[in-house]
Amino acid sequence: MSADKTTYAEFLIRRLHSLTGLAPLAVFLGFHLFANSYSTKSGGAFNSIVDSLRGMPYLPFIEWGLLLSPFIFHMVAGVWIIVTGQPNILRQNRPRNWAYVAQRVTAIVVFVFIIYHVVTMKYVYLDSTPMDYYEILRAKFATPWIYWWYVIGIGCAAFHLANGLCTFCMTWGITVTRQSQRLTAAALAAAGMILFAIGLTALNGFTHG
Ligand code: HEM
Repeated sequence: MSADKTTYAEFLIRRLHSLTGLAPLAVFLGFHLFANSYSTKSGGAFNSIVDSLRGMPYLPFIEWGLLLSPFIFHMVAGVWIIVTGQPNILRQNRPRNWAYVAQRVTAIVVFVFIIYHVVTMKYVYLDSTPMDYYEILRAKFATPWIYWWYVIGIGCAAFHLANGLCTFCMTWGITVTRQSQRLTAAALAAAGMILFAIGLTALNGFTHG
């Protein structure tokens, strides 16, 4: 009886974990890297996009209700999935074993990176409005380890998202045949590389500006 309950609870947690990976996380990551690409336009263009995002109505609800709460859930449930190493059907599928491991390795890197990123951006570097965000970030990214830490963080997030969408399609029965899974994997690998390129372009907007 209690074993059945645990199984059902686990099933729900896994499904919610999967859904939160798509929305809001995947949607937000795409939007976030796109918005940051204003760094390639000019310091003024970047500052005004940040100011308008920070000036949005219902900001605390959007930040905490729609973004951070589901994100924290995905992170905590993700750590639980990694630590408990629950049986996963993908593990049986030998060619995808490396992707299964890489999904977990990138999850850990992104976990550390996101905490660093949110804490430093929200509470240390950019803790009041209005200010010259662009200049502050330009100075930060001039430090080599910070720049390369961002390259690694963006790369891991892009991989985790692209490979995650692949497993999402399997989890929800969208791709069932081996051929559809191969095609989806190829399309999402390309999408992941494009996302990585957009992230790097946004980052380089601060160093080559
Ligand atoms: C940029 C941030 C992130 C995005 C966009 C994202 C997105 C996704 C997506 C779309 C999936 C696929 C869900 C599925 O297979 O149905 C996934 C899986 C996963 N995520 Fe994330 N995620 C992010 C951050 C994290 C973090 C910080 C962790 C923390 C440990 C994490 C842990 C996991 C794990 C363990 C899986 C695999 C679950 C499984 O195979 O059953 N993710 N993620």
